[in-house]
Parts: sequence; structure tokens; C-alpha cells
Amino acid sequence: MAGATLESIAWTGDALRVVDQRRVPDETVVLELRTIEGVVQAIGALAVRGANVLGTAGAFGFVLGVRGGLTPDDAAARLIAARPTAVNLRVAVELVHAALVGGEDPLEVALGLLAADRAACLAIGEHGRRELAGASRLLTHCNTGVLATTGRGTALGIVYAKAEAGERVEVLATETRPLRQGARLTVWELQQAGVPVTLLVDAAAAAALTTGRVDAVVVGADRIAANGDTANKIGTLALAIAASHAGVPFYVAATWNAIDPGAPDGAAIPIEERGAEEVLGGGPGAPAADTTVWNPAFDVTPAALIPGIVTERGVLHPPFGAAIAELGR
Ligand code: MRU
Repeated sequence: MAGATLESIAWTGDALRVVDQRRVPDETVVLELRTIEGVVQAIGALAVRGANVLGTAGAFGFVLGVRGGLTPDDAAARLIAARPTAVNLRVAVELVHAALVGGEDPLEVALGLLAADRAACLAIGEHGRRELAGASRLLTHCNTGVLATTGRGTALGIVYAKAEAGERVEVLATETRPLRQGARLTVWELQQAGVPVTLLVDAAAAAALTTGRVDAVVVGADRIAANGDTANKIGTLALAIAASHAGVPFYVAATWNAIDPGAPDGAAIPIEERGAEEVLGGGPGAPAADTTVWNPAFDVTPAALIPGIVTERGVLHPPFGAAIAELGR
């Protein structure tokens, strides 16, 4: 199956095994996390990243935490605080917490989440493939594929579904500064899968869109507010504005658990700000180490710029409030 060549996350019975995404593509290093502290640290350092994998890692982190003697409340609070924007993390941790409190086995629930995420990615791929029939040159941002989910991805899941169906598909992948998830992870996994991919620096995306090089933009989501406003990797908003200007359809693809009914609109979504060192880097050509930096990890794209959100339940179209209520039943 296209795009399913790597297991980003697995449970061994007493440890969580994850691919260290900081090291890809140079090497495939697998971390065995045996404590909740290890899971929290890996999440904070982006060894484990991507909304869907954050959710499943959080669920297993909770299991490790209570096995290690933490109270359920403490274990849940530590994990939820590890990264604030992707609501999948909170949803998954609250699910295993509720299971434990309700007398169920949280490990069974965590294992169920792995399987459900895999199935949801396949369904997103199919819905997206039908919605984007005729669009073969897809521009994407950050990384939403086999590393970021337990299946074959959300936005990239659509790419893999197209490839598997024998349809023509090629990807323009943005570099995704400052941590270069596009350049390091998306390019790598598409090359592994044999899908044609062209890398562009983030600043080239608007030019690609306005010069007829892109049929559709497809990105993932870290949190979708009740009105459809969508938080995703920093730079997504600029892509949506440029796509709207160029008349290119801009789609979000996400599993249903990225929708946060508690956030009425994008203003209610907490945006993580990360350290200056990610932007400043180091070594030759780096700016002065004491340079003032603003480094938000995500931005919010208003629903008005989004014609469709592809989920495992189907494709949501505006007005999103009504569409979410309809498919959420
Ligand atoms: O900071 P990251 O790398 O975790 O950000 C990831 C993204 O923004 C993805 O687009 C999103 O989490 C969806 S992954 C299925």
C-alpha cells in the first residue's frame, strides 16, 4: 500500500517505540520511551510530532505515567501541557483518563486509537481523492504523512490514495521553516513512496500559485474551531491567502478529533511559541545569538479561505458550523 512503509509509533508491551523525527532523513533512529517523562520530553523536543501521532503518543504516555505511580490527573496534566495547539493530544489523553476512571483498561483504549487513526487516514484519502479529482499538482506544507499519523497521513493520505488509484499526482512541498518538516520529512517519505515531489522554499509558494503551477493546496490541521477556522503549521495562512488570490482551491485534511467544539473560532486556539534557537540556528551565517525572534509554531487560517475540510466522515463545506453538526451526528 502506497505510503505505509514505516511505522511511526508502536507499543511493545512495556514501552512506546517511536521514530525520532529530528533525525529523519539522515537516519532512522527508533526511541524506546519507558516513562511518561520520556514521552513528554520527546513531544516537547519534536522527536515525536504531528497532530495525530501526538494524540496516540499521549495516550500511551498516560499508560506509562499511571504504571509509574502518577495519579491519573497528574499524568494527564503533564501530557496535555507538553504541546498546546494540537487538540488531538488533549482529546486522546482525556479519553484514556476517562477510561481509567470509568474502570476500563486505558491500554486497550490507546491501542484502539492507533487502529482508528490508521483507518481514518485511509478514509480521508478516499474522500479527498474524490473531492480533488482532476487536481494532480498538489502543494502541501509541513508533514502530514506516515510520520505524523499512525496510518498513511491526512493531506498526504490523499496523495497516496491518488497514487494507489493510478491517478497522476505530483507534490510541491514547502520547506517549512524553521524546522523544515517539509524539506526533511515530506520530501523523504514521498521519495520513498515513489511519488514525484518538488521542494520549494516557503517564500516561493505564492509565486508557484500565481504562475499556474498548482491545482490545489492541501494541508493538515492541529485544531479546527467550531466555525472552521483552522490552526496549522506557521505559514499555512500565507498559503491560504495566496491561494485565494490565485483562485486555487485550498483544502484542509484532518481527522475528526482535530475539531474542537470548545473553540468557537480561531481566536480561542492557543498558539505555541517556540524558542529563538530554532530560527537562529548556529554555525556559519547565523544571526547574532542575542537577536530578538518571534517564533510562533502555528497560525490560524480563517474559515472564509477554506472551501473544504476533508475528514474521515466526509468532506465539510461552508458554512462549517452546520456541516460539522450534520456529519457529527
Ligand atoms: O510542529 P509540528 O511539526 O508538530 O506541526 C505539524 C503540523 O502543523 C501538521 O500539519 C499537523 O499536525 C497535522 S499532522 C497530521
